[in-house]
Amino acid sequence: MKVRVLFVCLGNICRSPTAEVIVRERLVRAGLDQAVELDSAGTGSWHIGKAPDARAQRAGAERGYSMEELRARQVEPGDFYRFDYVLAMDEANLAELEMMRPEDARADVRRFLDFHPQAEARDVPDPYYGGEQGFAHVLDLVEGAADGLIAHMRERHGL
Ligand code: 4NP
Repeated sequence: MKVRVLFVCLGNICRSPTAEVIVRERLVRAGLDQAVELDSAGTGSWHIGKAPDARAQRAGAERGYSMEELRARQVEPGDFYRFDYVLAMDEANLAELEMMRPEDARADVRRFLDFHPQAEARDVPDPYYGGEQGFAHVLDLVEGAADGLIAHMRERHGL
């Protein structure tokens, strides 16, 4: 049985696609990419079908990550049954997810940065209306949490 992880932000064009490609790259490096399925989605509908934001793509490419093939989609109720983890980028995303989560769904819904080893980082700030440095900060935070998430899944699911 694969472990399934969904990353969620507002638009699904900046933070959650970044998380998806970074965690995928780390899983490949760890030889665990066949054991874990990843996806990303947004709580909002504005960018459905769009590729990731050009600034997010550029910032990612500087560190060797490619996300150009991803397309945005919106979170749907079935996601809470299909995924083992539904991981929000910030507190507002988490609040939205908790409102829409079906009562009997068993997904572990929480913030992605719960897996970041430094306790002061809790939210991945929305970079959409800011400058380039916001996108680099997203990459730093996501890289910081990626290995923590993988370590958690190794332990919890015996990967
Ligand atoms: P994301 O960034 O949630 O990290 O994908 C945003 C993308 C689009 C908007 C806001 C945040 N927007 O307002 O359109």
